[in-house]
Amino acid sequence: MTHEKLAKKLAGRFIVFDGIDGCGKSRQRELLGALLERAGGDVVHCRDPGGTVIGDRIRHVLLDFDLAAMSARCEALLFMASRAQLVGEVIEPALRAGRIVLCDRYISATCAYQGAAGNDVDDVIALGRLAVGKTWPDLTFVLDITVEESFARTNRQARPKVRPGQTHMFSDARTDAMEARPKRFHEKVRKIMLRLPEFYPTPVRILDGTGDPDAIHQDVIRALEDVFS
Ligand code: TYD
Repeated sequence: MTHEKLAKKLAGRFIVFDGIDGCGKSRQRELLGALLERAGGDVVHCRDPGGTVIGDRIRHVLLDFDLAAMSARCEALLFMASRAQLVGEVIEPALRAGRIVLCDRYISATCAYQGAAGNDVDDVIALGRLAVGKTWPDLTFVLDITVEESFARTNRQARPKVRPGQTHMFSDARTDAMEARPKRFHEKVRKIMLRLPEFYPTPVRILDGTGDPDAIHQDVIRALEDVFS
């Protein structure tokens, strides 16, 4: 399929890139966005959590402060609240206008991260239905890398578990609260990401995220041509 034809087929469609930290999702979103724009597509980029003034404030609550005291349910609800705003303010209007929406992370991330933190993934999906209504991705890419690769790419050391009541999570201000969780937590996140095709309500493609970004970009295009043929 030509890139022009692909851009036409993707009009009014919603594509998500997800995976553990450092998997290269933003890079792949940008590469795809640039290709589709060159082919005449009208592309909207967004990031979840955040992407709106209200969503960015919620994102700061989630990522800037000590999460040790926050319950797993509270975490899931806050991510969903930020997302509900993003959907209402950005994603739904863009899709209605026939634009192509490319987004970093979505309900898939809450399944994996807040699932790893102790939530039942079916509850997360039910909560997702409440937060976003019918606005689920047409396709979600999970870029898979190992946790070792993730830590190497994001310049992290495996950290000891945070003590209850501890007020400062990081010794490194560039590491956010979620990233500061121990290796074992990120192993669980990866495991749930790999199981997403089994329980997520809309299609998920798992791609190997370890190779050359341009080769992964070709995998992304092939998968899109296949799903939207
Ligand atoms: P993100 O803003 O995507 O940061 P990065 O670009 O560094 O991946 O996400 C920040 C962290 O929040 C990341 O560790 C994943 C986590 N997260 C959740 O725990 N639940 C969610 O629903 C989302 C969207 C992200």
